[in-house]
Amino acid sequence: MGKRPQARYVCQNCGAVWPKWSGRCDACGEWNTLVEEAADARSASVRPAATGGTGRAAGRIGFVGLEGAAEPPPRIGTGIAELDRVLGGGLVPASVVLVGGDPGIGKSTLMLQAAAAMAAAGRRVLYISGEEAVDQLRMRGRRLDLKAPGLELAAAINVVDIAQTLEAERDIALVVIDSIQTMWLETVESAPGSVSQVRSAGFELIRLAKSRGFGLILVGHVTKEGAIAGPRVLEHMVDAVLYFEGDRGHQFRILRAAKNRFGATDEIGVFAMTDRGLSEVPNPSALFLAERRGNIAGSAVFAGLEGTRPVLLEVQALLAPNTGSSPRRAVVGWDAARLAMLLAVLETRCGLRLSGSDVYLNVAGGLRVSEPAADLAVAAALASAATNQPTSAGSVYFGEVGLSGEVRQVSQAEARLKEAQKLGFEHVFLPRRVARGRNRLVAPDGVRLEEIGHLSDLTASFSDTPAADG
Ligand code: TYD
Ligand code: MG
Repeated sequence: MGKRPQARYVCQNCGAVWPKWSGRCDACGEWNTLVEEAADARSASVRPAATGGTGRAAGRIGFVGLEGAAEPPPRIGTGIAELDRVLGGGLVPASVVLVGGDPGIGKSTLMLQAAAAMAAAGRRVLYISGEEAVDQLRMRGRRLDLKAPGLELAAAINVVDIAQTLEAERDIALVVIDSIQTMWLETVESAPGSVSQVRSAGFELIRLAKSRGFGLILVGHVTKEGAIAGPRVLEHMVDAVLYFEGDRGHQFRILRAAKNRFGATDEIGVFAMTDRGLSEVPNPSALFLAERRGNIAGSAVFAGLEGTRPVLLEVQALLAPNTGSSPRRAVVGWDAARLAMLLAVLETRCGLRLSGSDVYLNVAGGLRVSEPAADLAVAAALASAATNQPTSAGSVYFGEVGLSGEVRQVSQAEARLKEAQKLGFEHVFLPRRVARGRNRLVAPDGVRLEEIGHLSDLTASFSDTPAADG
């Protein structure tokens, strides 16, 4: 009988390894995430043959200079333009992409649609599901009205079987693994979905993709709060990491690149979940603003930017008289610390009374905004709510607000203005331009620019009558 491998404890949140169990992982601070896994789990999956450790004569590596041709990588269109955009222009052959997101957000739906579109374009695509039976996949395909007789489906979880099968296949363009958490290597002594299994199975599949030259998409359930984070251990092994996010109560879904070796990481893809799957949204602004009702206090439109793409969004603020001891501040879709800062600036620099109210802030449509350029729109929504005066119809806002209340420049003002014009907005509140002359911002036809130097200029445009409470 062999010596029992020494136990070790792996944090299922961050992958840190500890010799002893404890209630809290010292690396990431999460509670109850340490799980016992066999100590030799990792080495068992990393075959010496793959690294050339056995019997192969030592080779030499060559060095080249920094100059010299560097071709842009070739791209394969996925048939879904919004996905191609986030990938940086399509899938790079033999690259590995991790697609993460909350359970039920639509990862399988998107991947099946992309796989079918690629197969319909005549490429060889294999879709391996560890979560659903082939019949379920077929039913989903029928519901999505997918027509791709060439698409090859399989239900499997055993990585050794999958690897053996793929070794023997030729001309594969893409393999989708849905999901990496269901994949299982028998040499690893822990349950599917554990960090060790995810890491080892991922490593095997990635090695195979690189050696056989096919594109690989690994689907992984990952929650933002980190409740399920296993696939995060794969982030450094793959070429691109895409997150599919959105609010399950809303139809919008945003695909974002968190990492991309072959492209920018600030592009987003916008989709809407319909009863026939995910449909692409080439003009998100119109959709995000579709449910907006004019003439309501506490609403302002922000001219934002996601990657290179301008997006107009509605910011909503609600003030309610505070009854408890400390006022509530609840934010959806924006940064809570930034809201606190803006409230302080509005109160101290603009004389707006807000500290006695509960404040609720919401970015409509389920989008998450991270740009400081949203400050001015948020301030407008708050000032509008506080004075019970709707923002003027047809107006949009963008600009960063500093601690003294000054309104600062933001990038790509022209693109924001153009989007506002396209959607019929006539009045744009924006930071004051210091640069004149050649760098002067020209208002697009039919758009009036209102330059705001200090936040108090903006709040002064709302009447001073306080909100009628209740
Ligand atoms: P799914 O792709 O299974 O999510 P994931 O793989 O990320 O776990 O999508 C699940 C949800 O999407 C499910 O709750 C139902 C919904 N849905 C639709 O609204 N329309 C559709 O056409 C499909 C296929 C799913
Ligand atoms: Mg799924």
